[in-house]
Amino acid sequence: MTSASFSLDPAFTVAPVSRRTFGTFVEHMGRGVYTGIYEPGHPSADADGFRQDVLDLTRELGVTVVRYPGGNFVSGYRWEDGVGPRADRPVRRDLAWHSLETNEVGVDEFMRWARKAGVEVMYALNLGTRGVQEALDVHEYLNHPDRTRLAEQRRSNGAAEPYGIKLFCLGNELDGPWQTGHKTAHEYGRLAAETARALRSADPDLELVVCGSSGSGMPTFGAWESEVLQLTYDAVDFISAHAYYEPVNGDLGSFLASAVDMDHFVNSVVATADSVAARLKSAKRLMISFDEWNVWYLSEFQAKRETGWEVAPRVIEDTYNVADAVVVGNLLISLLRHSDRVTAACQAQLVNVIAPIRSEPDGPAWRQTIFHPFALTSRLARGDVLRLEIHAPTYETARFGAVPLLDAVATHDPQTGDLTVFAVNRHLTDGLDLTVSVAGFGHPMSVAEAWTLTDEDLYAVNTADQPDRVVPRPASGVAVDGSVLSATLPPVSWSAIRLVRAG
Ligand code: AHR
Repeated sequence: MTSASFSLDPAFTVAPVSRRTFGTFVEHMGRGVYTGIYEPGHPSADADGFRQDVLDLTRELGVTVVRYPGGNFVSGYRWEDGVGPRADRPVRRDLAWHSLETNEVGVDEFMRWARKAGVEVMYALNLGTRGVQEALDVHEYLNHPDRTRLAEQRRSNGAAEPYGIKLFCLGNELDGPWQTGHKTAHEYGRLAAETARALRSADPDLELVVCGSSGSGMPTFGAWESEVLQLTYDAVDFISAHAYYEPVNGDLGSFLASAVDMDHFVNSVVATADSVAARLKSAKRLMISFDEWNVWYLSEFQAKRETGWEVAPRVIEDTYNVADAVVVGNLLISLLRHSDRVTAACQAQLVNVIAPIRSEPDGPAWRQTIFHPFALTSRLARGDVLRLEIHAPTYETARFGAVPLLDAVATHDPQTGDLTVFAVNRHLTDGLDLTVSVAGFGHPMSVAEAWTLTDEDLYAVNTADQPDRVVPRPASGVAVDGSVLSATLPPVSWSAIRLVRAG
């Protein structure tokens, strides 16, 4: 048995937990929208055609913000195709995923769904095939109160009040050669700056996200951020980051250390943004919107990429196992650890498409394994993120060299006194004895709840027939003695432990 430790003190904080960390993503892709959130004929559908079973699971997941409508899809999307009488809406080709978009769901329907789900919307603009004028137009349609042509059009389409969307993404992954309208950093930076300035003339209080890199492995990573920010720094609030992880050639050790790459990604973008600030003599600090992250078996998708022109085909419906859920829990630990600079994040995506929720047409909806660490972290991470120094042995990985066996983060809510520790044991075969000093709190504490997600079969999954094969279970071996919390973390496990003031 290996051991690891750290100390917690309420005086040493990173930043408040940003509720926007618990965002997700609905793209018009595969079955994310059609037979995902929307299926009028489904037994659980409401009068608007939204599946109540999926809505219930969305609420249970603890989602706070939803990025919409893409993704690669948005770079060829004409938002006006999706508003007005349904009978007049055109069917279009979606070049990103080689499918057909019926436009049965557009922004008015999505805003209705978002209200029912109780989430904020992060609206992505098309800067692939479109530009400043169309960005202004959709902003006018969404947010202008009245009297203009587009505000009145929204009103006649049933939404008298403006939607008041605050967060806008200035395009999607325009550094990627696969993107419709792919651009150089200079071309994109100029367009993003012009669009941002025009949008700010309409509403100075918008929060704008400029595109960063679509992965830390991109050949332009770093240089892209530097050049784009040089052109846009004053006009934007966030720069985006996207990252997907998968086990490569069965290398589970490296896969379990995926958060090392996420840490590196965030640290590199922060350093680059701050160096642009120094060059521009700006005191402003840019935030990161990590608005696409997840486990994605991307190489399998690339190997068998099919081109159909179908409506809502089954695309990248990855089925997640126990190890994937442990990695997702660890990626959330990384995002929380960087709460001083990562203040928005979206797991990609919400339903069916590389998603925590799966649904079958005319059938059930269920929680994938990765649902659980997200839901528990969203529920339990409250108050401030605490600064901690982990003492843990390391193991060798092919991809990242020596990596600590333990990763962890903690949050403390000064209002309620709740202290929650989130921890991952990356050891493939051995349990890990964790001790955490809570002496800095100056009062006795006790365990309120403790959950562990693990399984002897790391490849166990949830399915329609066995939707609860993998669930978090009450953790055994967790106790507080005096001012020390001790826990035994099983091999390849993710845990959440909430302490409260004793007595
Ligand atoms: O989430 C799936 C796809 O991944 C998105 O459409 C794109 O932005 C990214 O490459």
